[in-house]
Amino acid sequence: MKTLPTVLITGASSGIGATYAERFARRGHDLVVVARDKARLEALAARLRSECKVAVDVMQADLTKPGDLSALETRLRDDARIGILINNAGMAQTKGFLEQTAEGIDSLITLNTTAVTRLAAAVAPRLAQSGSGAIVNIGSVVGFAPEFGMSIYGASKAFVLFLSQGLNIELAPKGVYVQAVVPAATRTEIWERAGVDVNTLPEVMEVEELVDAALVGFDRRELVTIPPLHVAGRWDALDGARQGLMSDLRQARAAERYRPQV
Ligand SMILES: NC(=O)c1ccc[n+]([C@@H]2O[C@H](COP(=O)([O-])OP(=O)(O)OC[C@H]3O[C@@H](n4cnc5c(N)ncnc54)[C@H](OP(=O)(O)O)[C@@H]3O)[C@@H](O)[C@H]2O)c1
Repeated sequence: MKTLPTVLITGASSGIGATYAERFARRGHDLVVVARDKARLEALAARLRSECKVAVDVMQADLTKPGDLSALETRLRDDARIGILINNAGMAQTKGFLEQTAEGIDSLITLNTTAVTRLAAAVAPRLAQSGSGAIVNIGSVVGFAPEFGMSIYGASKAFVLFLSQGLNIELAPKGVYVQAVVPAATRTEIWERAGVDVNTLPEVMEVEELVDAALVGFDRRELVTIPPLHVAGRWDALDGARQGLMSDLRQARAAERYRPQV
């Protein structure tokens, strides 16, 4: 029987990442679970080892710290059992742009974009070499919505979607599947961590429903999975409009409306 690939999940100590860990363990995959809170990871690992009879390795890492990030890159490069990366760890934005600190901006951008990109870059060459494997990146509908007033978080999630689309174009021909998962409000600790009471939100998806829907997309090898989007054609229309815009670019000359009036 073919052995299932090991799944490395960042941000597995709670919320979406912990739920992915449980779902992949139930499917019989061995896991590497990563986050800062070692005690929570150990408790999750012990439960999944006993309930699902899979091997679970715990890696404590703060992905905003250069040394921890490079240790994880090394693991992804060298451990040939790891065939699926769930790039899930992320943080939301507290308060508006005018209230940001340099440290806060750095942490958010490093965790939500730099770490995601570097971990994908660490594993991709090995997966491409083997002609198999998957990289799943967790975006957010906030990446479609500058209106939400979470400009840095939204920009980081727009980055995740673009990165996923670009990686799919580069890696799919080599046999590597890349999925962007785009949740809307989901009941996890991210809200409390950002100082928002999740119960004040008008609509929230339960985390199990979100991850199970994302896995339906994963099993279909869908490129962009937006569980809360009920009219699937909306995404096709958005992507079609983007391609239409590209077809109307003329590189050699500025458009008539931008020609200086003489
Ligand atoms: N919940 C939502 O409404 C929602 C909507 C759209 C997208 N998302 C995205 O979903 C992903 C998962 O978030 P969640 O909702 O499941 O929130 P969560 O429960 O707060 O989980 C975040 C995970 O990331 C880990 N993490 C945070 N900072 C880290 C760091 N510096 N280094 C390593 N790990 C770190 C946390 O563990 P430790 O504290 O132990 O490190 C935790 O395991 C994020 O990318 C988020 O942007 C969430």
